[in-house]
Amino acid sequence: MPRATIQHFRDKKQKGQKLTLITAYDYTFGRIVDEVGFDGVLVGDSLAMVVQGLDNTLPVTMDEMLYHTRLVSRAVEKSMVIGDMPFMSYQVSVEDAVRNAARFIKESGAQAIKIEGGSEIVPQVRAIVRAEIPVMAHIGLTPQAIYRMGGYKVQGKTEEAGRILIDDAKRLEDAGAFSIVLEAMPGALASQITASLSIATIGIGAGAGCDGQILVLHDVLGLFERFVPKFVKRYANLKGETLNALKQYKEEVEQGIFPSTKESFS
Ligand code: KIV
Repeated sequence: MPRATIQHFRDKKQKGQKLTLITAYDYTFGRIVDEVGFDGVLVGDSLAMVVQGLDNTLPVTMDEMLYHTRLVSRAVEKSMVIGDMPFMSYQVSVEDAVRNAARFIKESGAQAIKIEGGSEIVPQVRAIVRAEIPVMAHIGLTPQAIYRMGGYKVQGKTEEAGRILIDDAKRLEDAGAFSIVLEAMPGALASQITASLSIATIGIGAGAGCDGQILVLHDVLGLFERFVPKFVKRYANLKGETLNALKQYKEEVEQGIFPSTKESFS
């Protein structure tokens, strides 16, 4: 299976086939998600919370993002690997944005970058695309803006707020983004944005009308329980499974059951 490209995203939208995306942050899970064969694997700045144990995504650095993206890139062959531009890697200037986006391509093996924001980051998106780097935009609940938004809140609930998001999406498409994440907004609004764009929308908490869906790996697997948004569906309870396995290992060591002759050299 050849690696998914931006043309693949466009073709799937045109054919009405759903795009599937997941996050990953290391080599081992990178191998597993690659075996499944998603269209895209995002090395999200959500790693600040689910890997680094921080309260939000703001502190994670460019070097940390590049490190995790490198681990995932080493494993993933079928999906597009997307590096997530962390807070303050693109807001200060267009030059910063292009330079940091290029670092994801040159130093971490990603094929695209994701960037949060609306009309205010259109110059950055345009310049990154001009530098031949595919851009996935991200509007709605943008976690890097939690202090302005007053927390992790559903966006676009009023007519005016919805109109701004529709306008942002159009401007980001015009700036050259190849797809756009729609996070935490009413399903009807996300469907309206999806219908108005020729690029693919990827929903997370934005209903079933988007062209594709993304979830955080640790949420899907039931590994992260400090904060579980309403839009998450857990498909496994790996925390429970892991606890059981580790308790059994500990007990077997304590009781002299492990290692047995089977795990020993003669
Ligand atoms: O950081 C992340 O994982 C994300 C996705 C949830 C879209 O931005």
